[in-house]
Amino acid sequence: MQTLAGKKILLGISGGIAAYKCAELTRRLIERGAQVQVVMTNAAKEFITPLTMQAVSGRPVSYSLLDPAAEASMGHIELAKWADLVLLAPATADLIARMSAGMGNDLLTTLVLATDAPIAVSPAMNQQMYLNVATQENIATLARRNMMIWGPAAGEQACGDVGPGRMLEPMQLVEQCEQFFSPKPLAGKSVVITAGPTREAIDPVRYISNHSSGKMGFALASAAQQLGADVTLIAGPVSITTPHGVKRINVVSAEDMHQAAMAQATSHDIFIGCAAVADYRPVDIAAQKIKKTADNNDMQITMVKNPDIIAAVAALSVSRPFTVGFAAETQDVEAYALDKLKRKNLDMICANDVSVEGQGFNSDTNTITVYWNGGQHTLGCATKLALSHSIVLTIADQMSSTN
Ligand code: C5P
Repeated sequence: MQTLAGKKILLGISGGIAAYKCAELTRRLIERGAQVQVVMTNAAKEFITPLTMQAVSGRPVSYSLLDPAAEASMGHIELAKWADLVLLAPATADLIARMSAGMGNDLLTTLVLATDAPIAVSPAMNQQMYLNVATQENIATLARRNMMIWGPAAGEQACGDVGPGRMLEPMQLVEQCEQFFSPKPLAGKSVVITAGPTREAIDPVRYISNHSSGKMGFALASAAQQLGADVTLIAGPVSITTPHGVKRINVVSAEDMHQAAMAQATSHDIFIGCAAVADYRPVDIAAQKIKKTADNNDMQITMVKNPDIIAAVAALSVSRPFTVGFAAETQDVEAYALDKLKRKNLDMICANDVSVEGQGFNSDTNTITVYWNGGQHTLGCATKLALSHSIVLTIADQMSSTN
């Protein structure tokens, strides 16, 4: 499919071993209708020849800033203006450092300074170099400047090390480009998403919680952001990195999450409650660690109901956002989901059967049926990110049909 028809991609290649994958990347981009103009650093030419890149891209490759002949055809400023997207792949630690410092000491870094096209950086380097504080700070600087950071992946490296720093595979970069150029149905909309578990303290060292990993909520945040929304994620205690461009508010207990959600809900267009909120919390939190006693085999913890966050959001009478809930069930999925949709006054509910192996808590895939008043849509088993895209698109559809 010509998913990239007419898109002008300036592919900047710097000198890392992953450069050998750029011929394949270029072929796949062109196959989908993109025009690819290759710009190489001097070091990149040691890893893949300009002749190869010219042959696969069908265009002369640019690499010299001070070449009168090249400047006479498409000069560096013209090149910078030509692009719809600048994709730097592989982006070495050196290229990233030079960009972070705002240098323009070769054609590629000059183009980066001169373009107003969006820039995607696909880091590729040895894991130790990637994890070096200097590199991490440089990448954070580029992200702060709104550059998109695509990857890296983790795994075996050309040098024999294992760890983060592998360039995304050509097809993954193609998918990133497709997503980048895909229509943005949520442009101008803001979304707040709750994710992960909550922790309900018993005493200073113990708590009651659940197995929610937060993966689904984080995938939804990522999908909503890629589809154009301004996203705020209210996250319980999870160890997942925040998707690029998403605002994150960390909370611990259901009461914290309730407070944060109510503070955010009225200023957002959409509220997605994906968190596995604890239904009850201990009435009293012991001030000191509760001690085991020799003479007592039983202990009781008296619990009190937590606020139902999503129901409270859905009950707002002023500035109520489009409210979407989740129902993780182990039986009678449809009946329970429809009951929750009605009882909590939701606009939509995403239901899944967590008794099925490989679905729900902690897994990377899921199968979900989305219900709304008068309709439903089953989304087959897919990765949480792919499902999240479908869910967010369904939300956008429903919002436009009810407006
Ligand atoms: O726990 P339950 O199955 O009722 O959860 C359904 C939906 O309600 C989910 O979207 C969940 O995030 C939300 N919820 C909530 N606050 C609670 C309990 C659940 O927002 N206290």
